[in-house]
Amino acid sequence: MRILNASGCLDALAAPDVARSLDAFVSKTVTPLPREGNAPVRIAETDSGMLNSIGLANPGIDAFLAEKLPRLSELGIPIWISVGGFTTSEYVGICEQLNERDEVATIELNLSCPNVEAVEATVAEIVLACRTATGVPLYAKLSPAVPDIAEVARAAESAGADGLSLVNTIRGLSLDERTLTPVLGPAVGGYSGPALKPIALAAVYSCYRAVDVPIVGMGGIQTGRDVIDFVAAGAADVALGTVLFTDPDAPRRIREQLAAEIAALGRSEVDELRGMSHEHRNRQPEVESSPA
Ligand SMILES: Cc1cc2nc3c(=O)[nH]c(=O)nc-3n(C[C@H](O)[C@H](O)[C@H](O)COP(=O)(O)O)c2cc1C
Repeated sequence: MRILNASGCLDALAAPDVARSLDAFVSKTVTPLPREGNAPVRIAETDSGMLNSIGLANPGIDAFLAEKLPRLSELGIPIWISVGGFTTSEYVGICEQLNERDEVATIELNLSCPNVEAVEATVAEIVLACRTATGVPLYAKLSPAVPDIAEVARAAESAGADGLSLVNTIRGLSLDERTLTPVLGPAVGGYSGPALKPIALAAVYSCYRAVDVPIVGMGGIQTGRDVIDFVAAGAADVALGTVLFTDPDAPRRIREQLAAEIAALGRSEVDELRGMSHEHRNRQPEVESSPA
């Protein structure tokens, strides 16, 4: 099991020591053209999570390849590039450009971009087109805000995805206490942090049963125990997001906690726990899984 950062939650060039404490670094989503992102305010704290509306601010693929990627590769850890776009051909164009760069270990397709509907047909179309364009391993990062994420996962796998990253943020709103107007510039933003964990766990759990490709689990991970939960639900690897904003030492701390938790469970490797939550199905009769 590897520990990665979640896309957009770590600036590896500003904090290289934090990046080196990970097993791989995932870039912020890169788009074809530079994007300034949304108007401020872009980040708001809420009771049990964080709202962001960064709006895919990034320098664009050309500047990223010229200025950032060479420096990122000097970190000495595998580099994953998160790719975004507004159309299928935008995703494909970036994949083609990345083809020529040996520094890229994996491409993570951010399939929760504005204009990109996270439905099966769109996900299948984008993954298939990118699969044709590149031999680099492809992970499909999915939104949990769909009626049946397992169906979307199957579509991504059939289209050639080598893995899934689960999950991206869900839409949330926070109002100013006094003015009762939205705190964030664009009003609605992506909700992340502890409140996302049960939602993310359910996504990993459902997709683990639906596909054979490995899953990077993320959403509210803060402790070693959280990592165990994701692995038991079926994650092969995990990613740390919001926690890195408050605790840059989280990768080291979580590894320590994980070692203690695994020993307490009488195991030697966290991988021994992979998919363990599914064993209840062998003990109990099948129950209706949809909410009451
Ligand atoms: C400030 C911020 C920026 C983010 N930017 C991106 C991004 O560029 N691309 C992406 O795929 N996900 C992005 N995410 C989503 C995270 O990668 C992750 O999927 C989500 O936050 C859930 O994990 P967490 O609860 O541990 O933060 C961002 C999240 C935050 C909080």
